Amino acid sequence: GLTSRRSTWSLADVRRTLPRRTDASHKGTHGRALVAGGSRTMPGAVVLASRAALRSGAGLVTTALPDAVHAIAAGQYPEAMYMPSPSSEDGFFRDELPLEAAGDFNAIAVGPGLGRTRGARTVVEQVLRQETVVVLDADALFHAADLLPLLRQRSRPLVLTPHPGEMARLTGRTTEEVELDRFGVSARLAADTGAYIVLKGPYTIVTAPDGTQHVNTSGNAALAKGGSGDVLTGIITAFLMQHASPMEAISNAVFVHGRSAELLTAGSHSLLDVLASDVIEGIPAVLREIL
Ligand code: APR
Ligand code: MG
Repeated sequence: GLTSRRSTWSLADVRRTLPRRTDASHKGTHGRALVAGGSRTMPGAVVLASRAALRSGAGLVTTALPDAVHAIAAGQYPEAMYMPSPSSEDGFFRDELPLEAAGDFNAIAVGPGLGRTRGARTVVEQVLRQETVVVLDADALFHAADLLPLLRQRSRPLVLTPHPGEMARLTGRTTEEVELDRFGVSARLAADTGAYIVLKGPYTIVTAPDGTQHVNTSGNAALAKGGSGDVLTGIITAFLMQHASPMEAISNAVFVHGRSAELLTAGSHSLLDVLASDVIEGIPAVLREIL
């Protein structure tokens, strides 16, 4: 039955499935990611996701953002490459990204700080047409609710990372209905779209298109702060490029994100004072614990 396809995902599972690196590795081996988002009012979200991807082992990360906020973001963060894209007057994406060949990227994430404008939606449509692994988060999920046929047409893995409010919009339900049937709503959306679904919150549920469900066992209320979802998106994107199994990649990413918060609050932090950037800087300690 359904229940037999459900299990928890714990430290032992991560230890068993997280790929080990060899000395022969070079940056191309670990994947090139594109992380798209950002706007004048939210320039930091896409930077958080990009930094988290690099801290999680991505070989190369290119941050695509409206050119109006390019200088601000690049000043914060020297390790990424940038794809400045046409910006609207008010500082959102105006049009498609200047992508030459999406084949250049092993994974594309879009959403953090993206905004709900028409230009932002054009970028989401463009990304969904790319023949590579795609992660949709935050405002990309707002647009995705109107693009379900495009989601269903994809042949490469697609990952959706809604919190309960975003899930409600995607499925035409209320947030309360989502919270009362987290497993069922996730399973139906996965079956309907063919996507991997990450329904966030305490005990985040990861659902594969075949109905398999993993319930995460790490994390705490230190994550209940703006930006921690953006960090998760970066970790997921990096892990997708480094695992053969998307389900293991996503489950491991969700675990590492939560575990980082646990180690921070077991150390010098309290549940109140952890920032999203601290969760990124906590990733090395988690990886050392696992590997
Ligand atoms: N226990 C465990 N994990 C938690 C808890 C908790 N009490 N609270 C939050 N989390 C985790 C979630 O599981 C998820 O991984 O923190 C992350 C929060 O992600 P989001 O809800 O996406 O929040 P975030 O993106 O950081 O900020 C809210 O998201 O989508 C946008 O429009 C939305 O601007 C808003 C922003
Ligand atoms: Mg979010």
